[in-house]
Amino acid sequence: MNYKEALQLDIFSTISKAATELHLETYVIGGFVRDFLLKRGDAKDIDVVAVGSGIELAQKVASLLPGKPNVQIFKNYGTAMIKTKEIEVEFVGARKESYDRDSRNPAVENGTLQDDQERRDFTINAMALSLNEATFGDLLDPFNGLQDLADKRIVTPLDPDITYSDDPLRMMRAIRFASQLNFIIDPVSLEAITRNADRIEIISKERIVVELNKILSSQKPSIGFILLERTNLLGHILPELLALKGIDEIEGQTHKDNFYHTLEVVDNICENTDDVWLRWAALLHDIGKAPTKRFHKKIGWTFHGHEFVGGKMVFKLFKRLKMPLNEKVKFVQKLVMMSSRPIVLSQDGITDSAVRRLVFDAGEHVEDLMTLCEADITTKNPRKFEKYHNNFKIVREKIVEVEERDHVRNFQPPVSGEEIMEAFNLKPSREIGIIKHAIKEAILEGDIPNEHEAAYAFMIAKGKELGLVENTTK
Ligand code: CTP
Repeated sequence: MNYKEALQLDIFSTISKAATELHLETYVIGGFVRDFLLKRGDAKDIDVVAVGSGIELAQKVASLLPGKPNVQIFKNYGTAMIKTKEIEVEFVGARKESYDRDSRNPAVENGTLQDDQERRDFTINAMALSLNEATFGDLLDPFNGLQDLADKRIVTPLDPDITYSDDPLRMMRAIRFASQLNFIIDPVSLEAITRNADRIEIISKERIVVELNKILSSQKPSIGFILLERTNLLGHILPELLALKGIDEIEGQTHKDNFYHTLEVVDNICENTDDVWLRWAALLHDIGKAPTKRFHKKIGWTFHGHEFVGGKMVFKLFKRLKMPLNEKVKFVQKLVMMSSRPIVLSQDGITDSAVRRLVFDAGEHVEDLMTLCEADITTKNPRKFEKYHNNFKIVREKIVEVEERDHVRNFQPPVSGEEIMEAFNLKPSREIGIIKHAIKEAILEGDIPNEHEAAYAFMIAKGKELGLVENTTK
């Protein structure tokens, strides 16, 4: 079969020309070919394999390209990269690999195209298109990847035990592709992943997180997380999530399975946001439930304080997985810690002051918090489903109304510390903090509007109440 139409970018004819000049057999392979056949948009990453030196080929290609772009060379790996504004091309020599069992570093030997194809992860990623002049666009598919694409199957070219122990990250890649493409993992492969699950420990956290983010970015992440659980990988990667699995029963009272509930919440939120951090918040919103679970004879199962405990756990989890400990972790923590607030609020009757406090505490993340809470509605009772959504709709409307009037989202005290000092002739002291706090509380409670004049008058009254004497000489 010939797929010349996949190779319309100028870069392919340039590579072909370079290959002819160097007498090198050359192919484009991997994700580019797979995504073309799946009609999955225009891939920007192009992997090129040469039967010989990939580095030499890259240098030749660069010399033929307009502007002669720089070639980045990774000598240890025998690879080279050319980056332009639009695309990134990685060049590698065909290899016959045998891996060192204790790391992902392969001991590289030169090989044929087929040697190279069989050391790749999946049949759907092992397909190559010829860039050689005489056969330009021909598909080389010795492991029937085309059929597996049609059947929507993840299959390894070799015995899966070999493929996965060559590079255990591939276990996560299999699950990531299953989630991204909605493919099934071949049962033999699934067994091999389960058998080799503990080998994931030799893989760096950063690489694992790349795959987790890709699973979370897919349309229905539950596919990936259910597979991670079934293959025992989840316990190695996110034990906090695994701990949510299961239903306990005491004296005939049960609680819901918080693992499957969480996955429903994640799938729900994916319909309303592409923000991977908000998706993380959905994934982790209940992790505090495992350590806080208690049974009480009278009231049954409780998870008191799980939001706070969960927030603390988020930080530890991010740290362990070497994820960013910047505003991203703070965002996820904040959402987890506040995840029950809108629910409590909508149950208690929605007062202006409760909404003001919610907006004040959530700040710029208040809409994201509402999106999380809406996704958290997983009841199968249609009457309750509608009722809860309606309540949140009212909360959202109130948020807009209160914010238009009171501007507490990015709260700036309407009276400054300097003004308080001047009003009472004070040096920096405890009273200033007390007065500031009282002003903030009065605004949130709705006792005074969020305006300078009203706040100033309130400040004078509060100061006098504290026994301070107003400075009338100003
Ligand atoms: N590959 C592999 N084993 C890995 C990683 C990659 O065999 N652990 C091979 C596959 O043939 C893959 C190619 O290298 O198609 C390129 O890898 P990469 O760019 O990481 O992934 P893609 O398959 O291109 O997919 P995506 O862009 O979605 O990550």
